[in-house]
Amino acid sequence: MEWLRSALLPPQGSAFAGEIDFVYMFILWLSIVLFVGIVGAELYFVWRYRYVPGRPTPHQTHNTKLEIIWSVLPLLLCVGLFFWGIDGYMKFAVAPGDAMEVQVTAKKWLWQFEYPDGTRTVNEVHLPADKPVHFVMTSEDVLHDFYVPDMRVKRDVIPNRYSEIWFTPTALGEHVSTCAEYCGKGHSDMHAKVFVETKEKYEEWMATGGDEWMKHTPEEWGKIQYEQKGCATCHSLDGAKSKGPSWKGIWGKMEKLQGGKTVLVDEAYVRESMLQPQAKVVEGFEPVMPTFQGLLRENEIRGLVAFIKSLK
Ligand code: CUA
Repeated sequence: MEWLRSALLPPQGSAFAGEIDFVYMFILWLSIVLFVGIVGAELYFVWRYRYVPGRPTPHQTHNTKLEIIWSVLPLLLCVGLFFWGIDGYMKFAVAPGDAMEVQVTAKKWLWQFEYPDGTRTVNEVHLPADKPVHFVMTSEDVLHDFYVPDMRVKRDVIPNRYSEIWFTPTALGEHVSTCAEYCGKGHSDMHAKVFVETKEKYEEWMATGGDEWMKHTPEEWGKIQYEQKGCATCHSLDGAKSKGPSWKGIWGKMEKLQGGKTVLVDEAYVRESMLQPQAKVVEGFEPVMPTFQGLLRENEIRGLVAFIKSLK
């Protein structure tokens, strides 16, 4: 009955899609068999015991055995379906410990995804095939609902609390996710693309972050990184002293270091300060900056260097 399943349900994109579809199809066929059986018997009895002038009315009897059978059998069937369903639900509810965690933020009207390394994307998410992924979701405003039909996952995304889903994507290619809770005038535009990729392609994407950086000048891209990666918490752009030196006019300066040495603020120094911040600490500041090794991609470092250079 594969034709009926594929006519009714979207393609199977995750490891448990097959199991969910099996339960779905079982309940569908059970309903069809019971409907035909019960309505068929009803119609037969309506015809068989119709009014015929002169025919004696059959006397009514009570059949305890029959009544027990038609009460207990459906009861057992329902209890069985319940445990079958809850078994699937429990598998769906608890993510395996080695699943990749992706933070999902819903807001009117977009989806934002954040990876373990700090990478953020909007309205698209890239996943390696055959590796469990765990979405931890919250909303910044109203009730939304994260729904990926191909993966057979769907869950409300609620402000001020976290909801979760997980799955193991198995079908390579592009899948659609959509908002399944009416959330205002942009609700019907609230889609995200779910890309399931081979391990190699996924790693390539993680290394370059896709092509978003190509759409900006290096200075613009650096400014975006300055705001998104948290540089702004410690480095001002107006010369004000914060936890770290201000970036204003810093380029090309001879900077005094702890221990009395000086260093020229150039590409090499700025790059080193991002990746090994404790190597050269400017006089008058605490060595408090965390390393950004692994958190910044090559194009992001180049952007930040260009941005600092532009701050005359
Ligand atoms: Cu968000 Cu509908």
